[in-house]
Amino acid sequence: MNGNNNYRNTNYQNPNYQNYQNNNYQDSGYQDAGYQDGGYQDAGYQDGGYQDDDFAKAGTNVSANANIVISARNIHKTFGKGETAQVVLDGANLDIAEGSFVSLMGESGSGKSTLLYLIGGLDRNFTGDIYVSGQNISNLSDSKLSEIRCKSMGFVFQFYNLAANLTVEDNILLPLEMSGRRVSDYREKYKEILEITGLENKVKSYPSQLSGGQQQRVAIARAVLGEPEIILADEPTGNLDAASGAEIMELFLRLNKERGVTILQVTHSAECASYSNRIVTLKNRVIVG
Ligand SMILES: Nc1ncnc2c1ncn2[C@@H]1O[C@H](COP(=O)(O)OP(=O)(O)OP(=O)(O)O)[C@@H](O)[C@H]1O
Ligand SMILES: [Mg+2]
Repeated sequence: MNGNNNYRNTNYQNPNYQNYQNNNYQDSGYQDAGYQDGGYQDAGYQDGGYQDDDFAKAGTNVSANANIVISARNIHKTFGKGETAQVVLDGANLDIAEGSFVSLMGESGSGKSTLLYLIGGLDRNFTGDIYVSGQNISNLSDSKLSEIRCKSMGFVFQFYNLAANLTVEDNILLPLEMSGRRVSDYREKYKEILEITGLENKVKSYPSQLSGGQQQRVAIARAVLGEPEIILADEPTGNLDAASGAEIMELFLRLNKERGVTILQVTHSAECASYSNRIVTLKNRVIVG
């Protein structure tokens, strides 16, 4: 398999994007449309919140040479209004380097899932800026956002989210079909993914006939078949015993190392976090390191 190249995106080659860590945005020459449309200025860029020192802040501590595939800047998120309003994120920053495997930890209710869903474009009601593969997704049209989500991101959830009335094969192929891509173009990839996930003998089974670990492997196969650059996983082992959880982590490690997939996983488990090469924590509504 010639994995890594498939995951590359021309945006990564943009030298302006590589400068991202070194200076502030004024020097970086960020030219994408989202950056120019003014949305950026609302997010505190002009008020000094974004100058050099801030790049040393927790959540942005990645190598200066790394290409950044995910960048969440100055994220504010509130649920509810008036007296019941709850501020969940209050100026959170997070940069994720290409090819890294990052665990996001923090107490229950600290906002981990909230941040993950914002990064994945699943919740658009927030302020701040989120860049995915160099593109500011914060103010894209729904259709453009869907396209980026389909192309760049694969989601894995705690409760697998499989369609009960579809076989393993149909579950894995569903996102391709829904995004209008030709399944026949992905035959080879499909076989590879079955081999990696160890599901060759289960393709005609239904989710209810599988163990939790096997169901999660189906969800991962589904997430990676479209060759996303990024996997976003919310407690992918939260519903599994230790042995099945370790299997899933081994699978993530393999996808990360062999295929260059960037992984951001939310986890409560120190054991699972030990598979990743960076741990960040959400506390007091920001990333603290
Ligand atoms: N749709 C929603 N409406 C209102 N409040 C919400 C909503 N989703 C989350 N919250 C609140 O936001 C806070 C953060 O929730 P979130 O699910 O992000 O936490 P978490 O860190 O993922 O927790 P856990 O580890 O338990 O999954 C919680 O107080 C939660 O009640
Ligand atoms: Mg959660």
